[in-house]
Amino acid sequence: MALIDNHGREVTYLRLAVTDRCNLRCFYCMPEEGIDYVKRKELLSYEEMVRLVTTLVDLGIKKLRITGGEPFLRKDMMRFLTMVSTLGLEQINITTNGTLTLPYVPKLKKLGIHSVNLSLDTLSEDRFFQITRRDSFEKVIKTFHALVDTGIRTKINMVVMEGKNDLDLIEMARLAKKYPVDVRFIEEMPFNGSGRSSDLVWNHMRIFDKLKAEFPDINRKEMKPGATAVTYEVPGFAGDLGIIAAYSRTFCGTCNRLRITPQGMIRTCLYDEGIFNIRDLMRSGASDLQLKEAVLQAIGQRAKDGFEAEKLRFNQASESMSTIGG
Ligand code: GTP
Ligand code: 5AD
Ligand code: SF4
Repeated sequence: MALIDNHGREVTYLRLAVTDRCNLRCFYCMPEEGIDYVKRKELLSYEEMVRLVTTLVDLGIKKLRITGGEPFLRKDMMRFLTMVSTLGLEQINITTNGTLTLPYVPKLKKLGIHSVNLSLDTLSEDRFFQITRRDSFEKVIKTFHALVDTGIRTKINMVVMEGKNDLDLIEMARLAKKYPVDVRFIEEMPFNGSGRSSDLVWNHMRIFDKLKAEFPDINRKEMKPGATAVTYEVPGFAGDLGIIAAYSRTFCGTCNRLRITPQGMIRTCLYDEGIFNIRDLMRSGASDLQLKEAVLQAIGQRAKDGFEAEKLRFNQASESMSTIGG
């Protein structure tokens, strides 16, 4: 079975956000005072998530990304990962801020986790503190080294912000020279939980110009279908560089993603407000067939791109990324 949307795009990639909490307070994602968290019973349980993933695999989902903040904030995360590793997915990936992941790195390798995307916005401990408002730099760096040493495919995510970390861009790029990791530069989006609008100074073109000026031999690689990043190789580098036009939304034409928030909201686009709550449907006693029909209906009415999805919102896009998982 294949999940084809109303624009002919095949949806194969599920992003499942497992927690609405975060132990960092990144400037681009949350206000300093944090955000209101929901009660535990409002979150999908592991058993509910396993049921959903099983049902969605039946419908044609092939890849899963588990997102945080920090997925390991959720108790017994390894138990959940072990359960989903038996559901017939081709790939399981994780996106994390790296603050609690370190002890689990060997187990992730053993379980066959395909890749880990690690948020790291600077290599300066001071600026890390200014951006995240927490003192966790050392833990994240240790996680980085553990991932590299264990041989788990690793991508670094840096949200580029004027006056906050733009001066670190080249130093961050050089991580991919020394280590076999992809370093991806991301446009800032408005999902900061405070309604603060980001005047996008560092758009994908400006990021590219900066990289090109420093690495003139930079060479664009062919884009994989469904990818968010435009990837570049640089001669002599162990890993690649990438630019994610998350705000400019240049990649929607091949979007293959479906999202489930920690409270069970189905989103067919990062920029939509939530299409329906599948947790409520499950808890009302719906059968697997009814769950599938509801997902098929949502996929059949998908916005054509992130601009259309944003336009259809009731409220402006300003919730915290930690409640969507990116
Ligand atoms: P892979 O392609 O599997 O590496 O995943 P990814 O790059 O999508 O995942 P990751 O969680 O590392 O996200 C990197 C950045 O891309 C984050 O800022 C995400 O919010 C953003 N992003 C991910 N998916 C989408 C999307 O569908 N639309 C937009 N506009 N941004 C996205
Ligand atoms: N804009 C762009 N990227 C963001 N992320 C979190 N908030 C934002 C934002 N406002 C990134 C994190 C993480 C990924 C899931 O999304 O850095 O790497
Ligand atoms: Fe997909 Fe929406 Fe992201 Fe575009 S903005 S890639 S349609 S989720």
